Amino acid sequence: MAASNAQSLLLLPGDGIGPEVTSEARRIAEAVAPDIKMEEAPFGGISYDKFGEPLTAEVLARAKKADAVLMGAVGGPQWDKAPRAKRPEAALLAMRKELDVYANIRPAYCFAALAPYSALKQHLVDGLDIVIVRELTSGVYFGQPKEITDLSNGERRAVDTQSYTTSEIRRVARVAFELARGRKRPGVRFAGVLSCEKSNVMETGVLWREEVAKLHGEDYEDVQLDHMLADAAAMHLVKAPKDINVILADNLFGDILSDEAAMLTGSIGMLPSASLGDPGGPGLYEPVHGSAPDIAGKGLANPCAAILSLEMVMRWSLKRPEAADRIWKAVDQALAAGARTADLGGKLTTREMSEQILKRL
Ligand code: NAD
Ligand code: IPM
Ligand code: MN
Repeated sequence: MAASNAQSLLLLPGDGIGPEVTSEARRIAEAVAPDIKMEEAPFGGISYDKFGEPLTAEVLARAKKADAVLMGAVGGPQWDKAPRAKRPEAALLAMRKELDVYANIRPAYCFAALAPYSALKQHLVDGLDIVIVRELTSGVYFGQPKEITDLSNGERRAVDTQSYTTSEIRRVARVAFELARGRKRPGVRFAGVLSCEKSNVMETGVLWREEVAKLHGEDYEDVQLDHMLADAAAMHLVKAPKDINVILADNLFGDILSDEAAMLTGSIGMLPSASLGDPGGPGLYEPVHGSAPDIAGKGLANPCAAILSLEMVMRWSLKRPEAADRIWKAVDQALAAGARTADLGGKLTTREMSEQILKRL
């Protein structure tokens, strides 16, 4: 929590399009919540170039003290050859782990005006409103050993370790059940939590399914629970996405399913996310998209995912639902009026798009 009474938001613009979209989110924040204390800090490749570290101890300490952290994106080809521990992506994983934000909430919501831009036929996504709850601080991203070794026969061998404990599964599953309880979807096929794993081939999948079912029996029998193998869920997401309410998945499957869900909503430039831990700690907010090196510096990036991540900051960490509602409505209205960046077939620059949102706040 912040030392002073003012709520604090730490902005980590990062690399590529990160600074472009974060500065637009900042302008929106200044308009809807001028009293919050906003600061910026270097993070990712830009920090590595300056300090030799993609996440310095100083920036981590500031993040831990903030009420919320809003990230742009990190990474890019110029850092792909850096040692793994020094890569921008490693800093992102370290930040998630250090803040212990184990529940990554990724809404895949199709704004009415964007249904024609979905990769799917319009009738399949009209009114689409899915939330993906992705486990974020364990699984194959963090399991040990994680290494490439030289074998005596001249070959190399790579190992990643997928590992989950009971408590790691239960705490993220609880977030999914709580969310589903507040999002009643009568008539929807998988109306509560759809838990995805590969229990047919993975022991972590077996434990995942058992622990989710056990927690459900203990505390959430009023919420519908369905299990689906993650590959089948990927298929169902493009076959009949409106059958789904809340998806619960581990770190890797959740990563993949959320990029897939992004394309149902029109563009990955639309998808925000919130990463939350136990109450009291800061939330970490970031667009689902990356640093988009192919369009960086050209003013082409869609700022909506960053602006909607700010909406989640207001709603989840700063407890300002009115500010969140204002942002959400302004985005909806701007899109309804035809405002579009290039990823949605439009001509607006990043700044022009956020101007359209700003004037509707
Ligand atoms: P990406 O999301 O950066 O880009 C994928 C495609 O989507 C590109 O064609 C890009 O131009 C487009 N795109 C992404 N965001 C957009 C936006 N806001 N507006 C318009 N178009 C947009 O994914 P990638 O190319 O696989 O990764 C690029 C770099 O970003 C890599 O270094 C990767 O590790 C990193 N990355 C970072 C994060 C993060 O910081 N949270 C997330 C994903 C990827
Ligand atoms: C995401 C990204 C990250 C992830 C990468 C950049 C480490 O793809 O946030 O979805 O895999 O978690
Ligand atoms: Mn991803």
